[in-house]
Amino acid sequence: MLRNENHFHERDAMMSTARTSATSRDGSLNAASERFARPMIALHWLIAIAIIAMLCIGFYMVGLPRGLPFKSDLINFHKSLGITVFLLVLIRILVRLAYGRPPLPPMRAWQRAAASITQALLYVGMVAMPLTGYLGSSFNKYGTKLWGLALPQWGWDDKHLRQIFFGIHEALAWIMAALVILHFLGAMKHQLIDRDGLLRRMSP
Ligand code: HEM
Repeated sequence: MLRNENHFHERDAMMSTARTSATSRDGSLNAASERFARPMIALHWLIAIAIIAMLCIGFYMVGLPRGLPFKSDLINFHKSLGITVFLLVLIRILVRLAYGRPPLPPMRAWQRAAASITQALLYVGMVAMPLTGYLGSSFNKYGTKLWGLALPQWGWDDKHLRQIFFGIHEALAWIMAALVILHFLGAMKHQLIDRDGLLRRMSP
């Protein structure tokens, strides 16, 4: 009898550990076991701040009048930060491949699909945006500088190619801004409506 009771206590303890490693009793996530790896969290926030800044600077600078010295300074800053973000994104992709992601908490199939599609598109945008910006700048007589250092100029002055790449770059900027807003609203829904602690997975 005593052996049987002990056996049940053991089994209860095991089941409770299994439950807390995924979700706690009230259904909220267990922050310790379900968090993204530290380097992923650091890169997520560093890149998030840089990309939001890049979008704001980009939309602002294209509206400035031609020939303004401040405009060319801002464009050079935009190019340097864009290339830096691109290098960080490449590191982020390698880190993601190495660490993977913690399993998603229980949620409806459409929510899971929406989150995965938005996040995959954000990755595509994070690579395609700097690439198209760099290509557009390469078919320009001004060339590209990285924090003051002139990069090899392999392109030539070609208005047509420049317009194609900058056209794609601008369209992607609008799509990216929409995706970031969607992603942010998704995170807020989890935080304020579902109250499932999802944000803790990515909290610094
Ligand atoms: C604006 C504020 C932002 C908030 C509150 C936020 C929040 C989050 C959270 C909570 C996750 C984890 C989702 C999960 O548990 O699966 C996440 C993942 C992700 N976020 Fe953000 N984020 C923000 C901005 C951004 C920006 C600007 C980008 C990039 C343009 C971005 C790209 C991503 C990507 C790609 C993932 C998926 C990570 C992976 O699974 O590899 N986020 N974000």
